[in-house]
Amino acid sequence: MRLDLATWPEVEAYLGRSRGIVIPAGSTEQHGPMGLIGTDAICAERVAAGAADLAGAMVAPTLAYTPAPFNLGFPGTVSVPEALFEHLVDEILSSLEVHGFDRFYFVNGHGANLAPLERAAATVRERASADVRIRSWWDFEPVNALRSAYYGDWEGMHATPSEVAITQSTHRTVPAGLAVSPPEPLPPGYVERHAGDRHGPPDEHRRRFPDGRVGSHSALATPEHGAALLETAAAAVAEDYAAFTAGGSREPA
Ligand code: NI
Repeated sequence: MRLDLATWPEVEAYLGRSRGIVIPAGSTEQHGPMGLIGTDAICAERVAAGAADLAGAMVAPTLAYTPAPFNLGFPGTVSVPEALFEHLVDEILSSLEVHGFDRFYFVNGHGANLAPLERAAATVRERASADVRIRSWWDFEPVNALRSAYYGDWEGMHATPSEVAITQSTHRTVPAGLAVSPPEPLPPGYVERHAGDRHGPPDEHRRRFPDGRVGSHSALATPEHGAALLETAAAAVAEDYAAFTAGGSREPA
């Protein structure tokens, strides 16, 4: 059930049976020559929607304006400061808490969201009995097995074939164009060192990755892969959400 498409009496009735809510978080940023600007938001939103259907959960509107300063060298990217995003998340959760929601499950699609989401979560856990769980849709083993089987090391780090595949299955397939040939492979350890999207300033980032792909061979994506990834991620999130909302134990802070 979507919060934005529910009425207040429907939300009140939902709160009578559950205090959990799923919140998708993405980005609005370049995703290489054949990836849509809204890729991260689309992936998070569709995985969240699929999981919520399976789990009978409420889904909040997607957080699509988030920090992505390193991609401002590419047209279409919108970035907000980390502190602003963290504050926004805190205020959103505070509003939801007023109504009785107290189990907040983020489905994330953008590495740079993780640090501010974790900080906002720490603030929330200090209040009352509320709890927060943050999972990126690629965190789950069955999803990773597919990514690895389809793309191996060409999954890379940004404009990944798996995220492009999901948007192909939900929206459209853009001709590969400049992305038809593989990008420069990343040096060993690059993905780990830059986890959470720790990239340099926009001009430097564009010089280093001129077409926007960061080690990802986006053109390997197919809509069929996307549909399978989406279904697998939604099932994994639904199961994890059910455990999160059923259990009385809180996440370690
Ligand atoms: Ni992305």
